Amino acid sequence: MKIDYRNLSKEDILYLLKSEDKTEFDELMQQAYDMKNENVGHKAYYRGIIEFSNICAKDCYYCGIRKSNKGVSRFAMNIREILDCAELAWKMNYGSVVLQSGERTDEEFVAFVEKAIREIKKVSNNELGITISLGEQSEETYRRWFEAGAHRYLIRIETSNNELYKTLHPQDHDFSERFECLNRLRRVGYQVGTGVMIGLPEQTMEDLTNDIIFFKENDIDMIGMGPYIVHHETPLAKKVKDFNKEYQLNLGLKMIALTRLYLKDVNIASTTALQALHHEGREFGLQAGANIIMPNITHTKYREGYQLYDNKPCTDENASMCRACLEGRISKIGEEIGYNEWGDSPHFEKKNKLEK
Ligand code: 5AD
Ligand code: FES
Repeated sequence: MKIDYRNLSKEDILYLLKSEDKTEFDELMQQAYDMKNENVGHKAYYRGIIEFSNICAKDCYYCGIRKSNKGVSRFAMNIREILDCAELAWKMNYGSVVLQSGERTDEEFVAFVEKAIREIKKVSNNELGITISLGEQSEETYRRWFEAGAHRYLIRIETSNNELYKTLHPQDHDFSERFECLNRLRRVGYQVGTGVMIGLPEQTMEDLTNDIIFFKENDIDMIGMGPYIVHHETPLAKKVKDFNKEYQLNLGLKMIALTRLYLKDVNIASTTALQALHHEGREFGLQAGANIIMPNITHTKYREGYQLYDNKPCTDENASMCRACLEGRISKIGEEIGYNEWGDSPHFEKKNKLEK
C-alpha cells in the first residue's frame, strides 16, 4: 500500500496500526521522527514530575493507587518536601515541573495545591514552568491554580470510546465530565494536554484510530499517552489473559508516530510506561516522534508508594541519578536536551499568535 505519510487518512492510520510488517514499522518510525524534527525541532524538553500524594478519591479499575486498593500505604508530601523537589529540578536546570497526585477535590487540597504552585514560582525566581495533572476539577479550581502560576494541564481521556470508558471505571466516573474538563481548561487559558492508554483489554484498532482523530478535532496542544500495563491488585488485571510486553511497546510506539504525523506540531511525551516495558522504551519513544521527557524527581522514599502499574522503573533511584541516566540515554540517540527552557507546545503558540 502506498501511503502519503504527510497527509494520513483515517484508513491509513487504521492500516498502519494493524500492520505487523517490520519494514512498514521502521518506515513509520522514520517518517514520524523526520516530521518531529521539522515541526518541533531536535530538542527533548524536560518536565520533572513530582508525584506528591497517592491519596485518591477515585476507583479506576486499572490503577494501582485506586481508592479500594487496601494494599497501598498512603502518603502526602508537605509543602516543604514539594519545594525541595522543585528546587532540585530548578538547580538541575530542568525548565519545568509537573505536579501529579491521586485525585481530590476538597478545599483543603485545592488550597494546598494553590499554595504549592505559588511557592514553586517564588523559589525558582519565576523560572520554572508548571504543569499540573490533578484530574477533574471545577472551572473555579482550574482558574485558581492558573492564577497561582500553572500554565499547562494534563488530563487523559483514557479512551475516546465512551463504551470502553465505562468498562474501565465505576459508574460514577463519567466520560462526558472528563471531556468537559478539556473545555474548562481551555477557557481558563491553559495549554491543554490529554492522552489515552494503549492496548487496553477490549480496545480495538478502530478505537485507537478514533483517539488520534479526537486529539486533532479537539485541538489538543500536548499528548501524554502510554501502553496499558497490568497492576496485579486491580480489577482490570483479571481481564488480561496474556500480557505481551513487546506487543504493547510496539503499539505504543506506533500511536506516538501516527499522532506525530497526524497532528504535526504538538508536544508529545515519551512516557515512563514505555520504559516499564523495555529498558530503552523512552528512547524509542523519542525516535518515534515524541519530544518531551518527564524525569521522576519525587523523593526516593515516596516512589514505592506511587505504583500505578507493576514494575514501574526508577523507584530505587533519586532525582540526580535519573538526571545522569537520562542525559546519557538521550545524547546516545543524538537528541539534545532543552535545559532551562519551558519548551511550550508550538501548536499552542501558533494558535495564540493568530488570535492576537
Ligand atoms: N497502565 C498504564 N497507565 C496507567 N495509568 C493509570 N494506571 C495505569 C496502568 N495500569 C495512567 C492513566 C492516568 C495516568 C496518570 O496514568 O492514563 O491518566
Ligand atoms: Fe531514572 Fe534512568 S531515568 S534511573
